[in-house]
Amino acid sequence: MNVAVVGLQWGDEGKGKVVDLLAEHFDIVARYQGGHNAGHTVYRDGQKFVVHHIPAGIFHPHVQNVMGNGMVVDVEALLEEIAALEAVGVAWRGRLWVSDRAHVITPVHRWLETREEDFRGCHSIGTTRRGIGPAYEDKYGRRGLLMGQVADGSWRSQVEWLWDRYVRLFGPSLSSALGAEWDRFQTVLERAEAYLADAVIQTDLWLRERLRQGARVLFEGAQGTLLDVDHGTYPFVTSSHCSAGGISSGLGISPRWVHRVFGVAKAYCTRVGAGPFPTELHDEVGQYLRERGAEYGATTGRPRRCGWLDLVALKYACDLNDVDGIILTKLDILDGLPRVRLCVGYTLNGQPVEGCPVRADRLARVEPVYEDWPGWSASTYGVTRPEDLPEAARAYIRRIEEYTGRPVVLLSSGPQRHETAWFRPPDEVLQPHPRP
Ligand code: IMP
Repeated sequence: MNVAVVGLQWGDEGKGKVVDLLAEHFDIVARYQGGHNAGHTVYRDGQKFVVHHIPAGIFHPHVQNVMGNGMVVDVEALLEEIAALEAVGVAWRGRLWVSDRAHVITPVHRWLETREEDFRGCHSIGTTRRGIGPAYEDKYGRRGLLMGQVADGSWRSQVEWLWDRYVRLFGPSLSSALGAEWDRFQTVLERAEAYLADAVIQTDLWLRERLRQGARVLFEGAQGTLLDVDHGTYPFVTSSHCSAGGISSGLGISPRWVHRVFGVAKAYCTRVGAGPFPTELHDEVGQYLRERGAEYGATTGRPRRCGWLDLVALKYACDLNDVDGIILTKLDILDGLPRVRLCVGYTLNGQPVEGCPVRADRLARVEPVYEDWPGWSASTYGVTRPEDLPEAARAYIRRIEEYTGRPVVLLSSGPQRHETAWFRPPDEVLQPHPRP
């Protein structure tokens, strides 16, 4: 049986830990979108490790890892990520497969993004400025550079053509601003051609063959549903399909291969960058969550905006992905608060709003309706059995389940693998649906 793990909020839900935890039950971990805007944090023997492009399954020696065609790749950053793995003794050759049709992020993409963000001024998206959006623009403009071209050496003529096009479009100032970096980019591609040639393959063929042979695949989402380019809080989104709908096209497999979908949600909400966030807290509670939850970006180090758990948005994400269950993380960050709040509705101009108006201009105008729940003073950090949670924490979880209509199947009670409480036996959660 194959399982997807997707983010149900604005990213940073703790998917890295969850994928690393579940990977032991799978043969393959396959990522289907995004690039090094993601930062998946994994603790390995007590040591923190952050992967950006590479699937979090890489830390399990028996697991094969796929970077799908739906991804965009910063080749230099990928080489650095691989070097960091090698430095801690993680073997990757023969275990990491990069799609020949994943697109390459170029220095011009980063340059364009900085200009675009600066041009937007106070309306900027607050992107990671890693060139993600412009790389997808070139993909859909049908002029992108492919990882397959890097691997087979045919990148030189394409890179020349792209540079010529950019200089004509943006004028000679581009040469002075980026000429040296463009030259360096080509040396990076030369290095990658030699170093990655064997790892770049037609991953969709490879994956379909393994699926047919019965391999179990864990599909790894990056970012979160509310950042999905189609289904998130547009235009304050990333440029890829983060929700479960992206799996099929981002890997080149039929949606029929995705048997179960689990969504990861934090026990409160965070958001990095701009965009509407109805339950955002600007007071000392928000600051408390940020400090206690170490809510600073794994990729950019930016402080994350923090707020109460928004059940309206969570239900929207659960329904959009039709999740089989919720994986809840960082409940312990709420420990010690005398009162916790859950957003159970929105109003607009004093009138109740139906569902979740996800479009940014509408969502920015809603007022949250809260339910107050008693907090708990006992620590939930590191709890491994649901029955060891304080009753108030269990009531909070039950309310999440009731509102969303989805069971909480797993609680991550700390960053390490063993700091986990299964609400249902793992075999039951990860078991196949009976085939019709
Ligand atoms: P981009 O993906 O760099 O284009 O950024 C677009 C928006 O998505 C910005 O608000 C980013 O902060 C946000 N974003 C992108 N990747 C992540 C992530 O992995 N976690 C949280 N937010 C992200």
